[in-house]
Amino acid sequence: MQSKRKDEHIAEALNQEVKMNDFDNISFMHHALPKYDLKDISLKTMYLNSEFNYPFYINAMTGGSKKAKEINRKLSKLANEFGLMMVLGSQSIAIKDGSYADTFSVARQENPNGYIVANLSANATVSEAKKAIQMIDANALSIHINSVQELIMVEGDIEFKHWKENIREIVQNIDVPVIVKEVGFGLSSVTINELKDIGVKYFDVSGKGGTNFASIENQRGGNLPFLEDWGISTVNALIDNKNVTDAEVFASGGIRHALDVVKALVLGAKAVGLSKFFLELSEYSYDLAKVELELFIQNIKKIMVLLSVDTTQKLREVPYIIKK
Ligand code: FNR
Repeated sequence: MQSKRKDEHIAEALNQEVKMNDFDNISFMHHALPKYDLKDISLKTMYLNSEFNYPFYINAMTGGSKKAKEINRKLSKLANEFGLMMVLGSQSIAIKDGSYADTFSVARQENPNGYIVANLSANATVSEAKKAIQMIDANALSIHINSVQELIMVEGDIEFKHWKENIREIVQNIDVPVIVKEVGFGLSSVTINELKDIGVKYFDVSGKGGTNFASIENQRGGNLPFLEDWGISTVNALIDNKNVTDAEVFASGGIRHALDVVKALVLGAKAVGLSKFFLELSEYSYDLAKVELELFIQNIKKIMVLLSVDTTQKLREVPYIIKK
């Protein structure tokens, strides 16, 4: 049942068309005399107290079915080759039934020294969190908070008020960094400040503009459209959280191409997560996926040349224009 749901999420997500989103309203001034050559640009970035080759990562998606295992295998090979952080999909299915553990641990097999992030819902207990981390020898743990999805999903949870206490317990008792993420509806500064008060330091705003889980769950349940426009866009979530201190804010939700990565970094994201983009790459042969990823990286560098910025840290200082 849960395994079938994983495959349905993959199929529905692949079916959703790539739309316009708030990133299209952000633009930059063009200055015709770049200060750097393409070869001067470095994408190396520090986050989660670690150095990464690139300011973007493979965000949480899957595990728990045969298809999911193959997706995790291909994406973790890419993660290994490029040095990308990879967040796995929710491991609760493998905590309930150990026979699914290999659909997640394949990510560690293919990427023995990489930075891999475990994933569970805010219902997880400390002991479940420890098991999820152990299953993949994780470097960090991400906890997804997905109230909209749960409320629409036929088999979804309808109890939420214990989430905050649960997250506090996990943060206090787990010795790897804990990232709290949404799944496409955004984290407001009110939410981030509440979570900071209980000790969370890492956030992925995962806002509206890309994969839409209201629409996915409506499709799965055969519902009429409900709450499909709910949520804070990734752009607005980043702007709302621009002044957050003592925390690292990552961006995901609707990052479609290299220009969106750069825009998210300019808007203050420490790193940028992509799910749908990598789900599509996972449908290609490994060699083609690699070529596409290399192009994507080159495109980020080309945009940085145009902005006369040679390191990702300096992107935060670039002025931007919001189109009305
Ligand atoms: C997801 N996402 C997700 N997130 C999470 O924390 N745990 C999970 O198990 C899943 N599962 C999942 C499956 C599939 C097929 C997709 C496409 C996505 C949500 C994901 O991490 C991200 O927050 C959203 O997809 C928004 O990013 P994109 O897809 O617009 O880049």
